[in-house]
Parts: sequence; C-alpha cells; structure tokens
Amino acid sequence: MTKSEDLILAELKNNQDKYTSGSELSRGLGISRAAVWKQIGSLRRRGYEIQARTNRGYRLAAEPDCLDRARLEKEQVHYYRAIDSTNLAARILAAEMAPGYSWVVAEEQLRGRGRLGRSWHSPPGSGLWFSVLLRPGKLLPAAAAPLTLAAAAILADSFKDQYDLPLKIKWPNDLILHGKKMGGILTELICELDMVSCLIVGVGLNINQKQTDFSPGIRSLATSARLAGGRGFNRTEMFLFLKKRLEEGFHRFFESGFAPFQPLWEKADVTVGREVRATHPGGSVRGTAIGISADGALLLEDSRGRVHHIRYGEISPEKGGFAD
Ligand code: BTN
Repeated sequence: MTKSEDLILAELKNNQDKYTSGSELSRGLGISRAAVWKQIGSLRRRGYEIQARTNRGYRLAAEPDCLDRARLEKEQVHYYRAIDSTNLAARILAAEMAPGYSWVVAEEQLRGRGRLGRSWHSPPGSGLWFSVLLRPGKLLPAAAAPLTLAAAAILADSFKDQYDLPLKIKWPNDLILHGKKMGGILTELICELDMVSCLIVGVGLNINQKQTDFSPGIRSLATSARLAGGRGFNRTEMFLFLKKRLEEGFHRFFESGFAPFQPLWEKADVTVGREVRATHPGGSVRGTAIGISADGALLLEDSRGRVHHIRYGEISPEKGGFAD
C-alpha cells in the first residue's frame, strides 16, 4: 500500500461515522483532489468499500477481510501477502538456520500443496494458510508420523473449545466439519537416514469462505468455519490462538510422544467403526477401522479378523461418508 493510500485510509477509519470531503483529504495530506480520487480508486481495488456522495465526500463502509500484517509481525510471524507455498518458505527458513517455532503465514498461496502431490487451493481473503518450522532435537523419522495426528487433535480440540465448532478428524490429516473437509495438514521432514533435523507442519483451514467461494466441483465436499458457525471469524486472532495451542502441543509431543494426545484424538475421530479402504505404500486393504495405536497407526480389522497397523497412506469410505 502506498503512503498516500495509508494516510487516506487512516483518515477514513477515524471518521467512519461521517463523510470526509475530498478537499479536506487533499488539504490534510498535501495532495491534489485528483490524486485523492486516484488513491480512493486503488483502495477500492484492494477491497475497501468506500462510498462517495456528491458535495459530501467519502466514507469507509467496509474493510476487506485481510490478515493483520503489523500484528503478526509483532509476534515474529513471517507474513507474506502472496507466496508459492508456506511450507516451501519454511523450508527456506530451515536452510537459513532459522530457529525452531518459526511461523510463516500467507494471505494467498500461489502453489499451495496438499498431501500426496495434490495441489491446495489457497485464495486470499478467506482461509488460513500457515506453516511452522520445528527442530525436534533427537527424533527418528519413524517417530515423526504421529505429529500430524497430534496437530489434528490439537486443532479439533481448539475449535471446539474456543469457537464451539465440532471439528472432527479423519485419519490421518483431514479436518472435517459436518461430514465435509474444512482443512488439512501437510507435514514434511528434512532428515538424515536416522535423524529428523527439521519438521515442517503446514496447515490449511477454510475459515470465511461462502458456499459460492468453492468451485462447483468441490462444493459438496468442502466447508468452512463460517458455513458451519453461521458467522465470520477474525482470521488474525484465530491464527494467533491456534499458534499458541499448537506450540504448547508440539513441546508436549517432543517430551512425551503421541500418547497424551490419544484421548483428544479419540474424542474427535470420525474414522472408528467405519468400513474403509486404506491405500498405503504397499497396496490397499479393506476393513473396519477399530481405532489407532499409541504410536498413531490406524488399526483396521479385515473380514478374517486380522488387525492391520496402517502407518502411512489414506482412507476412503467403503459406503457412506464421514459425517458425524
Ligand atoms: C491436505 O489435506 O492434503 C493437506 C493440505 C495442507 C495445506 C497447507 S496450506 C499451508 C501449507 N502450505 C502448503 O503448501 N500446504 C500446507
């Protein structure tokens, strides 16, 4: 935003209950009335709703839903207006030797990434797209997988507590509201054969999207906190709240592993008791989900009563969906 845009905006924000004339703005800022008009035009293009009345001037009617950059930077969060992917940004921070618990948040991702090489649609003004860089100390690669599950359990618990939204989890990383996907987690490792040096946990959450913000193809599968809660949410406050909860949880995970999160997971799990097909690196298996183990593996009982421990992969319902 240019300096004049900033000043005009500040003036309009201070006088939101009345109209401010163009000549007042031009005198106050020492710019011509034509320049005021030009800046008003570019503020409108940024999403500010500014009413104009002949002989009365301008009034700020509504602000766009933007993340509050100044507030985020005060908390040492790396903010980007637009970036390819916050997970990639966190990876660059790792290479630059940034400390653990470095957070990256973007208003928009141009190449947001989902699990298993999928893309993740991340438009501006509606969702939360963020990643955190973690330096776990001593952690074996095999012990890192349940971190995604712990993050999902923390998020579900936080949404229930703070926003009264019954967020549920579908193993291993889908965040589900009333049977539709509200978000997901992409955890990536930077590691040697026997030691994880960094973990990057990326979280994508649909927050203020309206039904029409989702493309017709995914409308029946996706939802947002606004659609479920019937109101909009302040994304900056929400992010800072989730950041605090996740940080506390990650410290706990590195001290005690997944076990302390298992009860939270079980409370929010929509997988247990369902007939599912699990697709994993070694093939696929059908069965009934009967729970998860203390180290986060999905327990699947097949028709012969054999229990499979599925550590990696994804599941799809054999019948019905994952509605709670
Ligand atoms: C999934 O369900 O497939 C996981 C989606 C994870 C998306 C988030 S958005 C922030 C972070 N940056 C990315 O590129 N992806 C994750």
